[in-house]
Amino acid sequence: MASVAASGTFAIGGDLTVHRLGFGAMRITGAGIWGDPPDVEKARATLRAVPGLGIDLIDTADSYGPFVSEDLIREVLHPYDGLVVATKGGLTRHGPDIWRPVGNPDYLRQCVLMSLRRLHLDRIDLWQLHRIGPDCPREAQFEAIAAMREEGLIRHVGLSEVSVEEIEAARRFFPVASVQNRYNLVDRTSEAVLEHCERHGIGFIPWAPLDKGSLAGPESALEAIAGRLGASGSAVALAWLLRRSPVMLPIPGTGDPEHLALNAAAADLSLSEEDFAILDRAGREAWQNLGA
Ligand SMILES: NC(=O)c1ccc[n+]([C@@H]2O[C@H](COP(=O)([O-])OP(=O)(O)OC[C@H]3O[C@@H](n4cnc5c(N)ncnc54)[C@H](OP(=O)(O)O)[C@@H]3O)[C@@H](O)[C@H]2O)c1
Repeated sequence: MASVAASGTFAIGGDLTVHRLGFGAMRITGAGIWGDPPDVEKARATLRAVPGLGIDLIDTADSYGPFVSEDLIREVLHPYDGLVVATKGGLTRHGPDIWRPVGNPDYLRQCVLMSLRRLHLDRIDLWQLHRIGPDCPREAQFEAIAAMREEGLIRHVGLSEVSVEEIEAARRFFPVASVQNRYNLVDRTSEAVLEHCERHGIGFIPWAPLDKGSLAGPESALEAIAGRLGASGSAVALAWLLRRSPVMLPIPGTGDPEHLALNAAAADLSLSEEDFAILDRAGREAWQNLGA
């Protein structure tokens, strides 16, 4: 049976040790990440399969559904038993695929208090600011988060979609334990942020690690190399990420237990130096051809 054990471990914030290959729980919701999933039993089965694969890092957010992802995680996995449920707040929802950031400190506090209630927790192991809100000074947002950390509502703080400059601004208020930016083989926009995270021992959580599915499945550009290695395209994309950096914590998203197992198999796929370099070059070229 597949297991992510071979992905190795990373200590988030220096003391929260998880296997590096995690799970993104955004896809257990409806179309446009809005409402209930089309097949809720399948979503539950996906969550039930998580611990058996050795996955102990689950990424979610209050805005997934909204609330649907956190509610299902609690329903299926509470009391969690060694699982780290990393959630986020700071994005409001106004319909399918509509996300609006709000950084008002009262709102951020409500996000944390409501995630605690939904997840049935006294403290959130890793709470991530989904976006720095444009509606108030970032310092006010960071202060509010620092206060919730000191109060014990949050154990570690992460940021999402931030620059190196924003990470450094936040670090004046609290230790930044993780950064979650979009990053994958064919989207290298956050290369400098990743290197900054490496230098400071900050966990880097690449979202859309499968480029939202284009690097997985039979249509994937990785199928040729995957065929040669006897692996799936998704496993190749994830193995490349795991090899790219020791602070890399991919959270592939799926609402399908079979895909979950295929993705977990990436932990056992060890890429040679040569294959890593071939993929790296091809990925950079694809990224540049997209006009990035
Ligand atoms: N911080 C942020 O702003 C932000 C933004 C977006 C996402 N996220 C987080 O990052 C996680 C990952 O991102 P993502 O879910 O957008 O993209 P992703 O992981 O790159 O790709 C997910 C897509 O790939 C498909 N897929 C997954 N495994 C597959 C497999 N083995 N074979 C074929 N298809 C497969 C999924 O469909 P199936 O469900 O059918 O498997 C889904 O449509 C999310 O779940 C969420 O936790 C964070």
